Amino acid sequence: MLCLGIESSCDETGLALVEDGKLLAAVLATQADVHALFGGVVPELASREHYRFIGPLFDDLMARAGKKTCDIEAIAVSRGPGLLGALLVGVAFAKGLAVATGARLVGINHLHAHLLAAGLEQPLYFPALGMLVSGGHTHIYRVEGAAALTTLGKTLDDAAGEAFDKVAKVLGLPYPGGKLLDELAMRGKAEPLLFPRPYMDNDNLDFSFSGLKTAVAQYVAAHPELLDFPHPLRDAALAPQALCDLCASFNLAVAETLCMKLERALHRNKDVQHILLAGGVAANSLLRQHMAALAQRHACTLVMPSLALCTDNAAMVAYAGWCLASQGFEHSLDFETIPRGKSIPHDMQRRAFA
Ligand code: KG4
Ligand code: ZN
Repeated sequence: MLCLGIESSCDETGLALVEDGKLLAAVLATQADVHALFGGVVPELASREHYRFIGPLFDDLMARAGKKTCDIEAIAVSRGPGLLGALLVGVAFAKGLAVATGARLVGINHLHAHLLAAGLEQPLYFPALGMLVSGGHTHIYRVEGAAALTTLGKTLDDAAGEAFDKVAKVLGLPYPGGKLLDELAMRGKAEPLLFPRPYMDNDNLDFSFSGLKTAVAQYVAAHPELLDFPHPLRDAALAPQALCDLCASFNLAVAETLCMKLERALHRNKDVQHILLAGGVAANSLLRQHMAALAQRHACTLVMPSLALCTDNAAMVAYAGWCLASQGFEHSLDFETIPRGKSIPHDMQRRAFA
């Protein structure tokens, strides 16, 4: 089955084709430079850029894959969570194409697509515990399969990626700051007690990162010499050592907090032997190391997507769509687009694939 995937939930316009579980081709237009001018994603600009790029990207994708529009059998599109206007561009494009081609339509939970992304590179085993760490979300899931994911815990305020981006902003680093902060941290020496491991004095699986961000901001306010470097800093090699050390301490606090809660979830799900790590922050070097050690301690397998599949992309949407469509799931044309903050309904129907 040939499945087209469409991603437009935030600031990346992506389209990809997956055939029989394998990635055929993918195209991605990033808007990072547009939003960097404003220090964060501007929703209206994001919608306009998606609208400008989606048509030409589709033509480019089909040419690269050597496929015709009528070859598409299923169309998967991120339906949420995300920026409503941005999502609507992708969903409207998908619905129009489904009407024109008669292809099966599947609205995809963007977070579930992140978690399944590594299935393009290696087999996934279930039940698994999934940790989704992105710019907008931090969730722990119990994953029984592509169509059965249950949320066990999530952030009550800032997401892990948001904490990286906000701390990067406090440090005067360009947006989005996660990747550069990671590079600086790798050059630094962490002071384990400098920052708290937030929201641990409870027995739940939720997170709260806003206090950690405030702790960093207060530390920086008390040590203004930390910001004494040429702005904008784009090359980690030019950063002062004290800045790298601070980044290392912050990065360690985030990685350890995520691991502590995942470890708690493993204790409560003793039948689980597989861990999935996904989302933009899954690209973080220290988090990958800590998760690998955690998996080894618990004799679990750890599946992490390659770096290109961690951040937003359409290959993961096409793959999730292919998994669902080949199990017979689909949506009718009136399925809704769901913005960030609202829960996504389980409204797929099941029909055998002809
Ligand atoms: O999953 P994603 O591409 O978009 C959302 O769905 O949110 O995640 C983007 C987030 C941003 O906050 C970015 O700063 C963060 O992932 N990020 C990183 C790294 N690479 C991207 N955070 C920490 N370390 C990285 N290497
Ligand atoms: Zn994402």
